[in-house]
Amino acid sequence: KKLTKCAPSVLAADFSRIHEGIQLIETSGGDWVHLDVMDGSFVPEISFGAQMVRAVRSLTKLPLDVHLMIEKPENHISAFLKAGSDFITFHTEASVHSHRTIQIIKAGGAKAGISIVPSTPVSQIVELLPFVDLVLIMTVNPGYGGQSMIPECLDKVNKLAQIKEDKGFVFDISVDGGINRSSIQKAKDSGIDVFVAGSAFFGADDPGAELSYMKNC
Ligand code: DX5
Ligand code: ZN
Repeated sequence: KKLTKCAPSVLAADFSRIHEGIQLIETSGGDWVHLDVMDGSFVPEISFGAQMVRAVRSLTKLPLDVHLMIEKPENHISAFLKAGSDFITFHTEASVHSHRTIQIIKAGGAKAGISIVPSTPVSQIVELLPFVDLVLIMTVNPGYGGQSMIPECLDKVNKLAQIKEDKGFVFDISVDGGINRSSIQKAKDSGIDVFVAGSAFFGADDPGAELSYMKNC
């Protein structure tokens, strides 16, 4: 059985005790640390920027999975590279020259991810698939934690997994938004490699048990 990786999102953590949140991810068996960067323009809210990534970098050796929900991501890649990101994922809806943005990320030594919102079809990123390390399928409209998953988005995971197999591509497929105890199985059946969990992890009475349930079910 293929082991699915879990990337808890610090967006749902207590920012005044971020070191405890990171420690909880480590002791619970989290695989990556997911960092949701929001600019108040591409999405309504503002969360945090490269400074937070740098702070988290000093707290853990786990891979930092940075999810940029920002306009013109190409203007900010160098800051997130310097902050110690391992994966930098941006939205194709926010970057006309997505291919160039991927090149900038990889030239800086990080892994490149591309993400699409629920209304964007897989066909919009097909040309980028040979070049990316990660494809992040949003299963909610990005902008807030704690929303319900839109299950139709998982059809895109199916489609991607098929393309990946047919063409021998190597990217990981991740899902983000509304992943919890009741939605995880469906997501796994669609062919994911990684899942993000914000509120389901940090909001649980026993986050470690929650994570291990979602990973092993
Ligand atoms: C949504 C963010 C997600 C969010 C997930 O805009 O990209 O990473 O933190 O939160 P939950 O798991 O609570 O839906
Ligand atoms: Zn995210």
